[in-house]
Amino acid sequence: METPNKVFDPVKLAGITFTNRIIRSATYEGMSDENGRPTAQLLKKYTALAKGGVGGIITGFIGVNQQGKSTGYYMSMINNAESVKAYKELTTKMHEMGTPIIAQLNHCGGQTKEEATGMPVIAPSKIADYKAKEMTKAEILEVIEAFVQGVKNAKEAGFDGVQIHVAHGYLLSEFVSPRMNRRTDEWGGNTVNRFRIVKEIFEQSRTEVGNYPMIVKMNGFETLKNGLTIEESVKIAKLLEQVGCDGIEVSNGTVKAGLATMRGQVPWEIMVAQNNKLNKMPRFVKGIIGAIAEKTFPQPQPKNLYNLDAAMSIKKAVNIPVIVVGGITNLEEIEDIVNNDKCDMVSMSRPFIVEPDLVNKFKTGKQTQVKCIQCNFCIIGSESGSLRCYYGKLPARLA
Ligand SMILES: Cc1cc2nc3c(=O)[nH]c(=O)nc-3n(C[C@H](O)[C@H](O)[C@H](O)COP(=O)(O)O)c2cc1C
Repeated sequence: METPNKVFDPVKLAGITFTNRIIRSATYEGMSDENGRPTAQLLKKYTALAKGGVGGIITGFIGVNQQGKSTGYYMSMINNAESVKAYKELTTKMHEMGTPIIAQLNHCGGQTKEEATGMPVIAPSKIADYKAKEMTKAEILEVIEAFVQGVKNAKEAGFDGVQIHVAHGYLLSEFVSPRMNRRTDEWGGNTVNRFRIVKEIFEQSRTEVGNYPMIVKMNGFETLKNGLTIEESVKIAKLLEQVGCDGIEVSNGTVKAGLATMRGQVPWEIMVAQNNKLNKMPRFVKGIIGAIAEKTFPQPQPKNLYNLDAAMSIKKAVNIPVIVVGGITNLEEIEDIVNNDKCDMVSMSRPFIVEPDLVNKFKTGKQTQVKCIQCNFCIIGSESGSLRCYYGKLPARLA
């Protein structure tokens, strides 16, 4: 008997009804105003995704407090009444279109800069990976409070749920990683201690928001020495289930590990073009710099489905839904993952930047491959401008 195709059917998972099993993974948009409130440009972006058939949208990361802001200037924030009000308008519009929307809550930890936040950069430990001071216990409690307030604000703003960002080397991911967390107090050391900050966020949020959907994005592994292994992330996934997490999206990587999170080409042209000094060099010198950049940041392999093994290991260990992200390039892969219960859902980021209507194209049979060429200009470009696809061409402002 043929396996039924579940990909395009609506499904209730993690307490949220998705219109299908292909969702938009969190993607920093840089489309909020200087106070972190969403703009009309962001609404337009989400409208295109909703009309384009995505099963649900996870927002780009939204900051829970000033100290956790990203280096990208136009990061969204959800730390006051004005931002809640602005988000309420946005979530209402999404619901009118029938698309669920989840707020990804983040603190950038050691991966931000003082120039961006106007405050000292903090991390669980002082290590060579970044310039940050070790957090005091009082600062840890402050961060927990900011996340709990962020969850309350997201609920009030009408989001269908939140995703707590525990991936990609940001603050909570730094806490759970044995490479980045070298603390010897109750917030570091063994898995349970490294996980404690996430546990506190879940437990304290639950008393405030009850069974409101709360999912997590976590690294299934880290490619750096002493980073998370799949075995360790399986243990963390089990702890997440124990504290009442409703679902897990599995990714990998940190800023230090370069493009391990997105993979594909090293976008050296745009890295050089963004650097004032380097960009003034003659073309042949830029070429040499590019060649050195390619060597210095070797492209991690494989480029496709690179988180699937870790996600499947986690799926086997827990009874909550698991979403896999990373290097999904065609419908056949999605059908294999979903219909064979390798994971419950898939999520994508870059393919939707160039084709917000990708799910409709898949559904109607117009297309089975994504158009994204993994040039990664989008990720480097988003440091200084709002999110868009450059399709391997230098943006005019940098050429
Ligand atoms: C421009 C850009 C911005 C991103 N911003 C976020 C973010 O805010 N939060 C997050 O968890 N991941 C972010 N990611 C990572 C993606 O969600 C995803 O994990 C990664 O790109 C791999 O998926 P893909 O192959 O479908 O692009 C971003 C990726 C890109 C390309």
